[in-house]
Formats: sequence, structure tokens, C-alpha cells
Amino acid sequence: MNQPSQQPKIPVDLQQRLDVFERFLKRGNIGWTTQRPFLKSLGTGGQGTVILTERRGAGMFSMPVALKFFSPGQFRTTTAYEEEMLRLTEVASMVARIQDDHLVDVHTFIENEGVYYMEMEWIDGFDLLTLLRRDTLEIVHEAVTQGRWEELNETIVTQGEVDCRLKPGMAVAILRECLSGVSALHRSDIVHCDLKPSNVMVKRTGQVKLIDVGAAFWQEKPPPGQACTLEYAAPEVLEGKRATPASDLASLGYMLLEMLSGSRPFTGLKYADLLEAKKEIIHKLPAMLPLDTFAHSAPLMLLLRRLVHPDPAERFQSAEDAELGQHGAAEFLNELVRSERSQEYASEIRQWISEMESELHKAQQRSCSGDTTRISPPDPTATRIFPDSLSDLENVTSGFDVN
Ligand SMILES: Nc1ncnc2c1ncn2[C@@H]1O[C@H](COP(=O)(O)OP(=O)(O)OP(=O)(O)O)[C@@H](O)[C@H]1O
Ligand SMILES: [Mg+2]
Repeated sequence: MNQPSQQPKIPVDLQQRLDVFERFLKRGNIGWTTQRPFLKSLGTGGQGTVILTERRGAGMFSMPVALKFFSPGQFRTTTAYEEEMLRLTEVASMVARIQDDHLVDVHTFIENEGVYYMEMEWIDGFDLLTLLRRDTLEIVHEAVTQGRWEELNETIVTQGEVDCRLKPGMAVAILRECLSGVSALHRSDIVHCDLKPSNVMVKRTGQVKLIDVGAAFWQEKPPPGQACTLEYAAPEVLEGKRATPASDLASLGYMLLEMLSGSRPFTGLKYADLLEAKKEIIHKLPAMLPLDTFAHSAPLMLLLRRLVHPDPAERFQSAEDAELGQHGAAEFLNELVRSERSQEYASEIRQWISEMESELHKAQQRSCSGDTTRISPPDPTATRIFPDSLSDLENVTSGFDVN
């Protein structure tokens, strides 16, 4: 006769844990308190401070995450801060749903004692503003052999007038990745509104990611004022019009111009001159770019013109068009491949970053007062334009240090 099989007896303490486990699952939610130790500051801008911190879990688990603290300092009232934060939480949750390799991953938005902060992935790399600085390149120069230095100058980057100049293929490869991230935002009806080198991260892997959605807005619910960085804002935005996806294209165009020329054509201009310079830019492009010896300067010029055109209707129809359409970034890069002038840009960037990194790290430790990784001075920060206060801008916009 068969004996009924005996269930092994569960120890009492394990049974208690099993009860907890089943209770949690039945309840359908779970909560706990958590702490994030600050590791170091990643940067400070017009909106607040970004800190590298650690999400710790049970046992040995921990992972680095970035926290962006939104300062109430730039608001006149608590209500204004609350309203803007509420708006941002909605935009951030839309961005969090977008799965795109070229956009920062937003994890959550938290409020603690009235202060708001956003948790996001920590992007292990450098922002483009830092990468393009001359002193960063000098550091690389010191770290590599003469042969490698010449190769770098030949294929990736050389000293420019103010900052570094990227070789056209490299600059357009970075632009292409930015366009891909911007396309994803635009497909969700979100305008980024603050595209500039410090808001583009170049990862150690060579991949490019857009960050800083603090000025971004959902087109169906635009904010009362328009945050932007004057130096990179499209002319229509400077004139007080609502930013559109086409305005993001102009900002990327100004960035491309800077990457190619190693200059900062709009720095230090007062509002009226800045607007004028952006309206006249099409005629100035050939003089701004030292491309005489570059075989593909005509298509490059075309790409630039259709990004920075003062009339939004004359720009590419969309970010996707600028990336993949006729005369777009991909077509330009393919042309380089056909003429055997192309490189594996991601691996070139990877190598460039690893070469500069250890030296840069030492320099950062020397030049910073302990806890920040930014070696560059803060870049022009975002300001807020209200259509009826444009005349005020005339008075306050000197060197764009407006807040
Ligand atoms: N997720 C991240 N991972 C790594 N570094 C980051 C991350 N987010 C931001 N940073 C660094 O911190 C800097 C400031 O961040 P962010 O641009 O979000 O601040 P901000 O206050 O909006 O600045 P601004 O107003 O000047 O645009 C960035 O330029 C970048 O160097
Ligand atoms: Mg920023």
C-alpha cells in the first residue's frame, strides 16, 4: 500500500516570511522609506543641482543614479514653484515612457519637505560642453603620444578659435544621435526647448544622450512663459513666439555650427544683436566655417542651412527628416562612407574619452574645491521669456548671464 507523501515541514520563521510575502502580493502595493547618500555633484545650472547618488537595495545591492534638485530660488512665490513642478512632473512622466537610446531614462519625481527632485539614470561620460573645451583637449594632448595626437587632429578634433573643432564626420555623427533623441520627443508632442552642448551627454561607450528636460513642454499644455537659453534659442523664440519642434532643430543647428567651427558665434551679444545675427546667419555661414579643403562642404552647408534657417518653414520638416531625409545627417554620413572618409565614430569617441579621462580626472581634482566634476565655468543657463517682457531682455542680456 502506498504511503501518502508527507509535505516537508516549513520552519516557523520561514513560514512567517511566506505569510508576509503573500500579504504583500494580496495587498497589491508596497512601500518603504529610502535614503540616497550623496556621492558628488555632477553639475549646477539655472534650475538647480544634479548630484550623483546611490540607490541602495537589500543586502549588497546598490546602483548609481543621478538626482536633479529643482531650486525654488528662481521663483517669486511658492505657488509659482509648485505650479512649475506640477507641470514638470507631467512632462517627466511622459519622457519616462519614451524608450529611446538617445534620451536620458527618467526614473521618478519626488517631493520632500516641499523641494522637488527628479531621479534619472546616471550617464557615465561627459557633457559636450566639457568635451569641446580647449583645456580638455590640452589634457588629452599631454596624455597621448605625438603620433596619436596627430591622428586625433586628423580624424576627430583640433583646436578651434574658442573651443575645439570636431571633424565634420564626427560632428554630424553626434548631431545624428541628438536628432534621433529629439525625434522621439517630438513624436510624443514634446518640445525640448533647451538643446545646447551642456545638455548633450557623450557616454563612455560613445553613445550620445540628451538630458535636461527641465524646459521641455507638452505641446498640448504649454507653460505660461518659455524657458530657453538665449544663445541657442531659435529667432522666433527670441521674438516671443511659442517654441515648436522646428525651434529645436535651429538649436541643434547652432550646436553643429559650434562643433564644426570651434567658435561661439553668439556669445556676448546683446538681445537685439543676437536676434539680428540669427536672422542673418544663412549669409554668414560660409565665412564661419573653415571648410575650404573639405570635399563635402556643399552638402554640409545644405544640412546646416536647413537647420538654422531663420524661417522655420524653410527648415527640415521634422527631426526625422533632418536625420534620415534628403540632405539629412544620415545621407551626409553615408556619403563619407562611399568616399572612404568615414570612421567608426562610436569607437573613436570611446578611445578619445578613455584617453582624456584619467588626466581629466586628475585635473578636476586639482581645480575643483572637492566635490564637483565640472571643470568648465557654468554655461549660459536657461532663462524664461515672456512675450510681454521682451523689452526687458534688452537691458539684462549681457553675456547671457540672465536668471
Ligand atoms: N543624468 C545625468 N548623468 C550625468 N551627468 C548629468 C546628468 N544630468 C545632468 N548631468 C550633468 O549636470 C549638468 C547640469 O544638469 P542640467 O542641465 O540638468 O541642469 P540645469 O540646471 O537644467 O542646467 P541649465 O539650466 O544650465 O541647462 C549637465 O550639464 C551635466 O554635466
Ligand atoms: Mg542643462
